[in-house]
Amino acid sequence: MSGKNTIYADYQATTPVDRRVLKRMAPHWHESFGNPHSSDHVVGWKAAEAVQKSMASVAGLLGADPDEIIFTSGATEANNLALFGLARRAPTNRQRILVSVTEHKCVLAAARAIEAWKGFTVEYIPVDHEGFIDLAALANRIDDTVLAVSIMAVNNEVGTIQDIPRIAAILARRDILFHCDAAQAAYAMDVSELAAHADLISLSGHKVYGPQGIGALYIRRDVQESIEPLIYGGGQQNGLRSGTTPVPLCIGMAAAVDIIRTDEGAEERRRVARQRDAFVEMLQGSRYPVAINGPTGDRRHPGNANLRFDGFVAQDILGALQPRLAASTGAACTSGIPEPSHVLRAIGLSVEQGDSSIRFSFGRFTTDEEIHEAARLVIKRLEATIKGNPDGPVI
Ligand SMILES: Cc1ncc(COP(=O)(O)O)c(C=O)c1O
Repeated sequence: MSGKNTIYADYQATTPVDRRVLKRMAPHWHESFGNPHSSDHVVGWKAAEAVQKSMASVAGLLGADPDEIIFTSGATEANNLALFGLARRAPTNRQRILVSVTEHKCVLAAARAIEAWKGFTVEYIPVDHEGFIDLAALANRIDDTVLAVSIMAVNNEVGTIQDIPRIAAILARRDILFHCDAAQAAYAMDVSELAAHADLISLSGHKVYGPQGIGALYIRRDVQESIEPLIYGGGQQNGLRSGTTPVPLCIGMAAAVDIIRTDEGAEERRRVARQRDAFVEMLQGSRYPVAINGPTGDRRHPGNANLRFDGFVAQDILGALQPRLAASTGAACTSGIPEPSHVLRAIGLSVEQGDSSIRFSFGRFTTDEEIHEAARLVIKRLEATIKGNPDGPVI
């Protein structure tokens, strides 16, 4: 997938909407435009039916039931609803929340806000040098005072795929609720049995070739009464998320997950992994130092290549490659001063190593030609930097 001049290698940031998804959404903006909560007429009934079908698709992706799906504006809201929702109805004897150190910022920030607001204790589970949860540390920290544990299935920066069934088994011993952020997992792996392991699961439409502005939270049926909503109003979505459910976006999310649930999804993962591996090989075959951050093999997001170019500055490499190549550094820039990625720091990298790391992520529309050209561009850029010409043109 390229813009006119740009190779897109940032699929973990967002994905283009698949044209098949656009096609299924199209009639619902103008022709079948009803409010799904208008219960007095056929236009509303049709819209409600479309939302029901969309819930069934999303539930089918996870091995859940349709009434266990709540549509949200994205995974950020889903993660907030899960954690705040549980914390606000927590029994007084369960006031601890555990999260892994490599969670997405929206989980970490929500957990911190709960701590500041309600006096909860938030504890952080460490990971090893590949980003895998320290299961012994998790097992040691849990007891009957823990309300919930939040651990992502697939990391957005280094692609680590956690052993979710094992984590779930550890938590089940103590009746602890398990929230799993699966925003990246839905594309990266088969999640058809995830609902058998986690009590709450967050998803995002725009990570799976659906539209931006839609996500979902799976909440196991018997856990729903333990959740206080974030948004109050007309009591839509079982009272858990008021507001008119956005029909075209729900249909878009459903259409997107319907595609990844087919054999096409599994085949695509294999193809993308081959392309990603070819890209890494080309770079490692150059005469420059290229290390892989995170795990290798099957327990990594198939499209993720988080690479470290020791001695180089990632932002300089990417900056000089504009507009030819879109990828991302893990650095966060919340206050105008770039901070090193908390994920790279958590797997043991120094600030300098973090600063020399780039996340390339490939996906549905990546072509072999783009893989070759992207590798060539990066190698040329490293060469130009070594020759003392870091800002020179890339040909
Ligand atoms: C793992 C993970 N969780 C949550 C989010 C937030 O998703 P959204 O953009 O749908 O709010 C992202 C997006 O970067 C993500 O990668």
